[in-house]
Amino acid sequence: MKALIAAGGKGSRLRPLTYAQNKHTIPLANRPLIIQAVEKIVEAGIDDIAISVNEGETELQKLVGDGSTWNVTITYLEQKGGALGVADVIRNATSFLGEEDFVFYLGDNVLCTDIGPFIEEFYEKKLNCLLALTKVQEPERFGVPVIENDRVVRVEEKPENPPSDYAVVGLYVYDKHMVEAVKHLELSERGEYEISDAHTWLLENGFEVGFREITGWWKDTGKPEDLLEGNQLLLKEMESSLNGELRDSSRIQGQVVLEEGAVLEGNTFVRGPVVIGKNVRIKDAYIGPFTSIGDDVVVEGAEVEHSIVMSGTEILVSQRIVDSILGHNMKLNPYKNTLPRGHKLIVGDNSHIEI
Ligand code: G1P
Repeated sequence: MKALIAAGGKGSRLRPLTYAQNKHTIPLANRPLIIQAVEKIVEAGIDDIAISVNEGETELQKLVGDGSTWNVTITYLEQKGGALGVADVIRNATSFLGEEDFVFYLGDNVLCTDIGPFIEEFYEKKLNCLLALTKVQEPERFGVPVIENDRVVRVEEKPENPPSDYAVVGLYVYDKHMVEAVKHLELSERGEYEISDAHTWLLENGFEVGFREITGWWKDTGKPEDLLEGNQLLLKEMESSLNGELRDSSRIQGQVVLEEGAVLEGNTFVRGPVVIGKNVRIKDAYIGPFTSIGDDVVVEGAEVEHSIVMSGTEILVSQRIVDSILGHNMKLNPYKNTLPRGHKLIVGDNSHIEI
């Protein structure tokens, strides 16, 4: 069995973060989404993996490498001109896939469940396609199955009036017929080859499409608030480990991961779940629940809660920062006594600031 991971796309709803990085390299609980996706696949025992990337992508390859870290082979498939929808990723991977069964994983999905049982069920029930389903509050944002007598009979992509309250999760198990199915698709109204149409094609052509409900949580990280929630869910799962240093009157409470070289000093208080990366320096600051602080970050005097702070960033303001996502190498400096007075901002397009 092979695996195909989708890691391209524009990430337009995550701008400005995605101007500087592929959305799949965004860290949640300090680990890039794409690494978490690869590890899910590797844990399921699959060692021949392809990652579909945008044309000209280089950063993601540098981050993930050739698979030798996990003893697997990773091939990169460039999607020339960008993918025309999720199903186009499969259309572009036909020579890699050949006639093999495969797991298809959307790299911006985070799930708290093992993939193994999905693969087992696919084989036990001799299916051509296994969908992973979960109940959601806004099914209209996803592919939604029509279920009759406990069987999926059709799948609708982002329906205005959802036929059920299930979403089709970005984890699929297929046999070779899926490669055939995607060849028959026509572009949808929004100009994409829809994965849901391929599932409907399989059903209409007599193939066995089964489903399995996801019991753990699942998050599609399409929007900034999804990233914060995904971060929160992942942090809850982490076990404390303290490899850094607590100096002066610094203290911690709850689940905290403190990586090597990280130093808490002065009157710092960290209340978990929190992860603090390597060589971080935090002085006279409060780091509140559901926060991840990347490597080489400096925080002085601030309170940071329910936020993602990526590596190399400096927060030197005595302010309270909540529900925020700060990219790499940002500087939040205190006001200097220079004229004209006021907030001085150098921020990229599509940034969102509340001051
Ligand atoms: C895609 C699929 C959709 C699926 C979702 C899961 O949507 O088209 O069927 O439910 O992923 O994350 P997209 O995130 O591309 O809008």
